[in-house]
Amino acid sequence: MKEITHELLSSFRAPAFPGSFFLSFEGIEGAGKSTQITRLKDYLEKEKNYRVLVLREPGGTPFGEKLRQAILETKTEISPLAEAHLFAASRSQLLTEVILKELSVPNTIIICDRYIDSSVVYQGHSRGLGVAEVLEIHNIFPLNLVPHLTFYLQIGVETSEKRQKIRNAPKDYFEARGIEFYKKLVVGYDLMHELFPHRILKLDAEGSLDSVSSAIIKAMENMINTNREGHKELLDDQE
Ligand SMILES: Nc1ncnc2c1ncn2[C@@H]1O[C@H](COP(=O)(O)OP(=O)(O)OP(=O)(O)O)[C@@H](O)[C@H]1O
Ligand SMILES: [Mg+2]
Repeated sequence: MKEITHELLSSFRAPAFPGSFFLSFEGIEGAGKSTQITRLKDYLEKEKNYRVLVLREPGGTPFGEKLRQAILETKTEISPLAEAHLFAASRSQLLTEVILKELSVPNTIIICDRYIDSSVVYQGHSRGLGVAEVLEIHNIFPLNLVPHLTFYLQIGVETSEKRQKIRNAPKDYFEARGIEFYKKLVVGYDLMHELFPHRILKLDAEGSLDSVSSAIIKAMENMINTNREGHKELLDDQE
């Protein structure tokens, strides 16, 4: 397996569009991503007057939705390398067709339900392709553009199972893989948090929905205010 070098890690950066933000949510099944995204979107639109777009991965474009179906509904095994490239293809199309265009409109926030970390964790770590290998696939523009902030909602495997049972969701491609696979996902996500400690905010999502929402909103407020300060300094410098 390839080494995770500092050079590789530093080739990832957030897109620079003044006044707009790119966010992602990560975590295993049942962590609360969809629920918290809905709450955050509501808050940002109503309280902060942002234009908010929610995208899901894989998917988000006509081509990406076809890939999503192909990946999630396949009855035959896809190799981890093929899987990683399929996700990267969908992501690349999403970046070109949607993310970069929409972020160029000021006051926009894009929220992705899963992004690059899911690929690294699912194909790279849990399926054994290698963390550096999956990062390398993304080491080319525009795939090397990462969110300004990623909310990693951390829950244990037991909580994930409990919430899935309550939900009674049918088992799809990933969900049919069993407990060992899920345990590896948690380790993989923790590793990603160690590799990208500034971008990825790890939140304890075993707690109540409200406690998780408050932590997310607090981090968002911080980011918006810091950005505003930075912008003000730039304007002051120009005077
Ligand atoms: N903090 C929480 N406390 C209690 N229940 C929660 C919490 N977060 C989410 N849930 C519940 O767990 C279930 C799964 O949540 P949700 O669909 O938001 O997770 P998800 O991360 O989007 O999962 P998936 O990856 O499968 O899409 C829902 O029924 C939701 O209401
Ligand atoms: Mg969801």
